Amino acid sequence: MEKKERPPVYYSEYLQLDKILNAQQPESAKEGIRADDEMLFIIIHQAYELWFKQILHELDIVRGIFKQPNIHNNTPDIYNSVHRLKRICSIMEVAVLQMGVLETMTPLDFLDFRDLLRPASGFQSIQFKMIEASLGLSYDHRHGKSYYLSQLTPADVERVKKAEHELSLLVLINQWLERMPFVKNKEYWQDHANSSFWLKYRDAYVGSLSPAEQQNLGIFNSIFMEDAAYPEGRAFSADASRNALFIMLYRDHPLLQLPYELLNTLLEIDESLSMWRHRHIHLVQRTIGKRVGTGGSTGAEYLRGAADSHYVFKELAELTSFLLPRHLLPQLPEKLVKDLSYRA
Ligand code: HEM
Repeated sequence: MEKKERPPVYYSEYLQLDKILNAQQPESAKEGIRADDEMLFIIIHQAYELWFKQILHELDIVRGIFKQPNIHNNTPDIYNSVHRLKRICSIMEVAVLQMGVLETMTPLDFLDFRDLLRPASGFQSIQFKMIEASLGLSYDHRHGKSYYLSQLTPADVERVKKAEHELSLLVLINQWLERMPFVKNKEYWQDHANSSFWLKYRDAYVGSLSPAEQQNLGIFNSIFMEDAAYPEGRAFSADASRNALFIMLYRDHPLLQLPYELLNTLLEIDESLSMWRHRHIHLVQRTIGKRVGTGGSTGAEYLRGAADSHYVFKELAELTSFLLPRHLLPQLPEKLVKDLSYRA
């Protein structure tokens, strides 16, 4: 078959530079006011929005992978997901560093044009809210939810609502963890002297607690030992939490190495977003002090509330309270150890 000739690709057309490089329209210029730093302010925000777009792209791919009813160990899926989630962490590192560039704009420089921006604010960044929603931040858990939608156009409210109603990464990871057979599958445990892994684990855990840590046992019991499918107030089901802890404990076994990497990377994403939030708060305090935001919130105070409460995978982070040193771990049945190994 004859190969169709493709027209040559030209750098600026490929990158649509005519659009991007003509998309900086300072309000100060429109008003005939001199504000030399507004260009930097616009470009920084645009650069962030491009990174946010890339993060949403990666999240869509990863969520697509986890929407499959089963993810087989012998496919590239988990590796691909970990790889993409790690990329999000790298982007967030750049995003944190980029704040330093904007900090070269002093508070006085900002005042030259700040009033011209009202009521626009990063608060209206739909992509940022979509990232939070895609990860798993629900409307009910949003800080300041009573007024955040009031700042958006109806079309943007729709976009955020749509993202909030889709299956988030948190929900999909919960389902994936629930499907893991290792602790649940009776076949592994019936011939084993300690048929209940969790009773044995609980005994070892109790023995490891210091007097000041006794209240941990109540939490341990409510998550791992009770019959309820969902311990009260938790996003992760009991089965999912059990399997997540199991992965953390036995992560040295070949088949659990990538699942562990995955869980760890989710915690890194939470951490990197938190770093960004705190860097942003420092920038805000330094630039506008105690003044309210252009978006009408209480400014730094609102942002601190969001930073404290918007951790999406905090229940996974909490599981580290229930780890035990390797030498105290219950021994696994032989068949399970074999199934957790690479096959010859
Ligand atoms: C001089 C620089 C900046 C100042 C003074 C500032 C100030 C603020 C303030 C006060 C808020 C709270 C909402 C409000 O009342 O407006 C806010 C929210 C926000 N800003 Fe900035 N900001 C700055 C730069 C940036 C940059 C470069 C980005 C990058 C995209 C950004 C993204 C956001 C986002 C996403 C929110 C919403 C955060 C949330 O709801 O948790 N800001 N900003």
